[in-house]
Amino acid sequence: MAILATGGAGFIGSNFVIDWFDNHDEEVINLDKLTYAGNLNNLVSLENNKSHIFIEGDIGNSNALNKYLIEYKPRAIVNFAAESHVDRSIHGPESFMQTNIIGTSRLLECAKNYWQSLPQKEQTEFRFLHISTDEVYGSLSENSPAFLETNRYNPNNPYSASKASSDHLVRAYNHTYGLPVLTTNCSNNYGPYQFPEKLIPLTIQNALAQKPLPIYGDGLQIRDWLYVSDHCSAIRAVLERGIIGEVYNIGGLNEKTNIEIVHVLCDLLDELRPLSSDSIIKSYRDLIVFVKDRPGHDRRYAINASKIEKNLNWCPSENFETGIRKTVEWYLKNTKWVDQIISGEYRQWIKKQYT
Ligand code: NAD
Ligand code: TYD
Repeated sequence: MAILATGGAGFIGSNFVIDWFDNHDEEVINLDKLTYAGNLNNLVSLENNKSHIFIEGDIGNSNALNKYLIEYKPRAIVNFAAESHVDRSIHGPESFMQTNIIGTSRLLECAKNYWQSLPQKEQTEFRFLHISTDEVYGSLSENSPAFLETNRYNPNNPYSASKASSDHLVRAYNHTYGLPVLTTNCSNNYGPYQFPEKLIPLTIQNALAQKPLPIYGDGLQIRDWLYVSDHCSAIRAVLERGIIGEVYNIGGLNEKTNIEIVHVLCDLLDELRPLSSDSIIKSYRDLIVFVKDRPGHDRRYAINASKIEKNLNWCPSENFETGIRKTVEWYLKNTKWVDQIISGEYRQWIKKQYT
């Protein structure tokens, strides 16, 4: 038996694959294009694990997908592969449309043909799990209730619009062809192996290098943060016990403003990596700068996760205080991992976005 995970060299995908082998010995076929966000260094702990089969490949390459499906006969596909950074989607949406929409549609078509070719028992057991985001629901005002699975889709930026499109395609493949799909819409993740273009790892990295900590606009936008290993356990629960055709929202009930997040990170770094007594700044908080807002910046995301909690008996293990401390400690221990990323392409992105 095997599962196929796409995008398993990225942040959440690599955490999922590592977490998978802590809980299973079933093979994982890990297919990843290795874009700027894909990193084999995320997977070094699996180097000697014969059940982890890494393939460099694109979910948009139907011929290759057909070949791998026939060769490895997975009982499930978990689709993490995506372009995932909102700011990059604002600068250049094309690759988002290509991977998130066209790529997902090709993956679905290959999965459908493969699934139809399976004997009855394997067909019944097969699952296609699509990993999506709360951003498809758009922005909440301060007092609106958190997103439910029934909320209307209202994506506001090219990234969320491309993910919304992929969710609709997944739903349509169930409705039209009966493909046994499941979809999860999760809030913002944080934890080990997150590429340092996203708020939390970018803040840690910049603080350690004593560079400015950029806060977009007034810093009062709200995100609902979930520690990545809790996302992984939710995905396992949905794969094992989810009802075909259903959507599950995943979140950690941790609504925080961006400025709160950056303050917490600065305070943890003041404790764990104190500045030297001759430093010009007295706290990492002194590095905070307010910069031009993100165009079309969504004000608030919040997840109502009661469906997955009640129906699949899932709940997060980490609260924000424990998860964020683990995260900072991980980045302090893994400076080599970050140093390998901060190469040419990353430097170009930082220049484009922040100057
Ligand atoms: P990421 O950008 O860190 O990783 C994406 C991975 O997909 C990379 O390894 C990349 O190489 C790979 N990839 C990109 N295009 C591909 C293609 N055409 N074929 C095969 N592989 C390709 O993203 P992430 O943060 O790990 O997010 C994973 C998934 O979870 C995405 O679908 C994202 O929309 C969703 N999600 C992310 C968050 C979050 O906070 N990071 C929250 C909710 C949902
Ligand atoms: P990000 O990590 O890019 O995730 P998303 O856009 O998917 O929520 O950003 C999280 C929040 O932090 C978002 O409101 C934008 C804000 N932000 C900043 O204020 N400064 C930054 O340098 C970055 C990268 C993000």
